[in-house]
Amino acid sequence: MGLGTAKRNGPEGVAAIEAAIEIGYRHLDTAQDYRSEAECGEAMRHSGLPREDFFVTTKVSTSNLGPGDVVPSLRRSAEELGIDVIDLALVHWPAKNGEYPLETYMPQMAEALSLGLVRQIGVSNFPIAYLERSEAIIGENLIANNQVEVHPFLQNRALVAHCRSRGIAVTCYMPIAGGRVASEPEICRIAEKHGATPEQVSLAYLMALDLIVIPSSADAGRLRANFGATGLTLDDDDMRAMAALDRGERLIVRDWGPVFD
Ligand SMILES: NC(=O)c1ccc[n+]([C@@H]2O[C@H](COP(=O)([O-])OP(=O)(O)OC[C@H]3O[C@@H](n4cnc5c(N)ncnc54)[C@H](OP(=O)(O)O)[C@@H]3O)[C@@H](O)[C@H]2O)c1
Repeated sequence: MGLGTAKRNGPEGVAAIEAAIEIGYRHLDTAQDYRSEAECGEAMRHSGLPREDFFVTTKVSTSNLGPGDVVPSLRRSAEELGIDVIDLALVHWPAKNGEYPLETYMPQMAEALSLGLVRQIGVSNFPIAYLERSEAIIGENLIANNQVEVHPFLQNRALVAHCRSRGIAVTCYMPIAGGRVASEPEICRIAEKHGATPEQVSLAYLMALDLIVIPSSADAGRLRANFGATGLTLDDDDMRAMAALDRGERLIVRDWGPVFD
């Protein structure tokens, strides 16, 4: 489980990230567009923990996908984060309206890898066709991760199956559907059965499917509760009931974005 850091800005953002680290979160998910890279860096330094205890993901903004722009932007990200090497760098979204072809920016991601500026590269909001074309451009086994919207109401099975078949780990963003899982009676029923929260049930379900989750909260109590999902095991009946909740409900749609699977 990682910590989503969108909206965790300024001193309040640093305090929330510090609280999360205190609770046990070690994987921080940030992005150039979130403007929370410096906050992540500050919280990591304040923790007193060694750099290698953390796994830091950042994402290259669509405004940095042009020729020659990717690597310098990642150098700036590393500087903001106060680290020498970024654990995972993702293309945040494919270029807006196809402004740049994949041939322009995917090789630059591979360059960041070969320069040692990042340990792993990946993508976000990439449908299957984009993954296939990217692998054709930079080669197989280089894309480590695809971060996409996945929660009980949008289980994205075709894309997840494709990623699995290619050895690409899937990170679920909005894993508690932006807080909406608590309004689903079936999730509440399973939560009650386990003495858990609906958010924990959603997170435990996704993790049981070997998916990575990055819930976010500004509140230390909710951060702690969410982290508690790492100790929750759902039974086969629960897993079947959760699987049945998929209704293809996408919460994040960009009119300039790709056509999703
Ligand atoms: N790659 C992408 O394009 C992309 C897109 C969207 C998000 N993301 C990443 O995914 C992360 C998570 O996404 P998200 O924050 O949009 O959605 P989320 O984690 O599914 O939901 C967060 C919302 O739920 C509330 N919440 C959190 N824990 C709760 C709990 N235990 N009980 C009740 N409410 C709770 C939060 O409010 P409070 O803060 O008030 O607790 C917040 O409004 C982001 O921070 C970002 O890192 C990536």
